[in-house]
Amino acid sequence: MGLANKHIVLGVTGGIAAYKSAELARRLRDRGARVRVVMTKGAEHFITPLTMQAVSSNPVHTSLLDPDAEAGMGHIELARWADAMLIAPATANFISRLAHGAADDLLTTLCLATPVAISVAPAMNQQMWRDQATQDNIEILRKRGILILGPAEGDQACGDIGPGRMLEPDELLAALSGSFRSGMLENVKVVVTAGPTWEAIDPVRGITNHSSGKMGYAVAEAAAENGARVTLVSGPTGLPRPDNVHTIRVTSAQEMYDAAMEETAAGDIFIAVAAVADYRPATAAEQKIKKRSDTLTIELIRNPDILTAVAKRGLLFTAGFAAETNSVEMHAREKLTSKGVDLIAANLVGGGEGFGTEDNSLMLIDKTDTKTLPRMRKSLLARRLIEEIAERYHAKNPTQGPR
Ligand code: PMT
Repeated sequence: MGLANKHIVLGVTGGIAAYKSAELARRLRDRGARVRVVMTKGAEHFITPLTMQAVSSNPVHTSLLDPDAEAGMGHIELARWADAMLIAPATANFISRLAHGAADDLLTTLCLATPVAISVAPAMNQQMWRDQATQDNIEILRKRGILILGPAEGDQACGDIGPGRMLEPDELLAALSGSFRSGMLENVKVVVTAGPTWEAIDPVRGITNHSSGKMGYAVAEAAAENGARVTLVSGPTGLPRPDNVHTIRVTSAQEMYDAAMEETAAGDIFIAVAAVADYRPATAAEQKIKKRSDTLTIELIRNPDILTAVAKRGLLFTAGFAAETNSVEMHAREKLTSKGVDLIAANLVGGGEGFGTEDNSLMLIDKTDTKTLPRMRKSLLARRLIEEIAERYHAKNPTQGPR
């Protein structure tokens, strides 16, 4: 699963973003993929075949009518060898030729000759991207089932600002990996908790924390993308309900506990991302508390530990998060044992890390191993995490079908 041992044909066309294709090829190989690069004539003006050969560890294919190349791996064999094709960058000209079925160079010919999924990462000037001709061509490709990845918005090499930048290599990897993942959790029931909880002190005050829900919502979405039936039990956040996810909104830890227990009664995988308050006021005042004295003592009592309670139910797989400010691995390992779960995804929090941020990194800890997922957008990190969870879930339950 993921990209390991996948055969990827990486098509490179003639745009300035071609310099990123070398990094893309290298990262594909880091993820265990086997890469063969096909370059158009235009691409060779921006990056040399020698560079692409070095980073892909395979000869680069540049010509349709090269007898030497055809004697090695000809275009039809190459088309058959591929598990997926990714064209990055794809220029406006290439997109137009692909849309209209051209077969006048190796890359367009391969696209016609291959039965596998084709992904295209457009990269061009923002006005060229907005032009109706390009938009019509993109529409043709979409209707044909070709995956359009991006483009991103931002500063362009030509000095313009707008849509047309090629997605970054990490984003392309996550999307490509996603195209292999569909169905990894087909029909598996996944319950995710997310966001903070709110423990009322009185009708207007409460105890809470800085969790925005971004990480948990991204995890729920990534599980749904992989075919899972997902229930998200969410504390108070400002985020919209994710598509294809059954979302239950709760306020307190007790409400989150009740909803999680009900939903996991017939669940397969539980992922606790929520930052649950460990304590709540012993009583919540019915009216707003007046400031009558210099000090005020509020008695706090323990909230139920949702993750520990669900883990005791013996689901097929349980994963928790650990938010740590120091000695991340040591504390996370303790939680793996004390909470009785299959996996802990640990992150550093505080000092601008973890809570409320767009990016995050995770240390995955199970009984035998520790693995780091590097810093990236939470949406991409969630996809990587779901990939890891799905692999472990299937390894632990080799004969288990969906419930
Ligand atoms: O929401 P964001 O702004 O995107 O931020 C993401 C995050 C930092 C909140 C997230 O990545 C994260 O670390 N979530 C876990 C936060 C937490 O409460 O960690 P903990 O180490 O205190 O708890 C360990 C595990 O037990 C967690 O899975 C937690 O959900 C669970 N727990 C804790 C207490 C409790 N009463 N019930 C629980 O289920």
